[in-house]
Amino acid sequence: MNKPEKRNASSYCNYNDSFLSYDQNRQPNGLQEILHIFGQTRIPVEEQTVLEGGFGTGAYINHIRHSMKEVYGVEGSEQGYEETKQKVGDADNVHLQIGNILDLSFSDDFFDAYMVNQVLHHIDTDRSYPNLTLFLKESRRVIKPGGALTINTCSQEQLNPHSGVYWNYKYIEKAALTLQARYVPVPKLISRLEELGFTDIKTTMPSGKLFQEQYYHDPRLALDTDFQKADSIYCFCSEKQINEANTLIRSGIDDGSIYQHMEQAEKQAQKIGEAVIVSARKPL
Ligand SMILES: C[S@@+](CC[C@H](N)C(=O)[O-])C[C@H]1O[C@@H](n2cnc3c(N)ncnc32)[C@H](O)[C@@H]1O
Repeated sequence: MNKPEKRNASSYCNYNDSFLSYDQNRQPNGLQEILHIFGQTRIPVEEQTVLEGGFGTGAYINHIRHSMKEVYGVEGSEQGYEETKQKVGDADNVHLQIGNILDLSFSDDFFDAYMVNQVLHHIDTDRSYPNLTLFLKESRRVIKPGGALTINTCSQEQLNPHSGVYWNYKYIEKAALTLQARYVPVPKLISRLEELGFTDIKTTMPSGKLFQEQYYHDPRLALDTDFQKADSIYCFCSEKQINEANTLIRSGIDDGSIYQHMEQAEKQAQKIGEAVIVSARKPL
């Protein structure tokens, strides 16, 4: 008998496969800034109950569980859920479930803080972003009055395949443009937060990096299938497109032109960051 497929929530990527190499290639970017935002509410961080939506392999949860009182997580991929369970061991302040951030099982006003990190581009296929509204309404419902919501996402500028901060996107331009369209533009996200009555809306540039160190100096990393699995952009690429990109990267390495392009992307990242945290509060 065939094993049943593991559950998965993304609208375009099977994370049950991607997560096998995710932790080796990614870093929990923005963690310090997020904790700082949570700390600006009326309750001290160490007394807060927090939710992470779409926690992936649990990189953020495994850090914040040491500085926050109770940590809840909802994740759509069974593989992510299992890896996170292993990571946090028997920590009794961590409560994980497989579920959908568009339809949470928690009662109203349950959390002091709620964070989603690089998740929102998975929930909508339609450019009017209807699921974003569902997500924000659910967020507002489960957060306590005065509580904080942090949305770690990327701007259209950061994702630009030519002038953005991810140097390898130039070689998979079509996929980069498709991915860019999945990300709600930051001004649109802000206006949706306003429409739904959130207050104290701010943007913060996280200082950290999204990928492992090798990505920033060794272009050969982008040829590695394990690295490719750890960025969902490659789910938009056919095998032919990946082969073409690999050929371009190899020739850029041979003639040295890729290093110039990487330097340009790095300069842009210093200027505009690799991601953006949009934060807001539920009014008191
Ligand atoms: C790019 S990963 C980010 C993982 C983690 N937040 C991190 O930054 O390391 C996106 C995650 O969102 C999850 N996800 C996407 N849509 C979801 C939904 N509707 N409900 C719950 N999880 C969802 C995916 O399964 C995946 O784990």
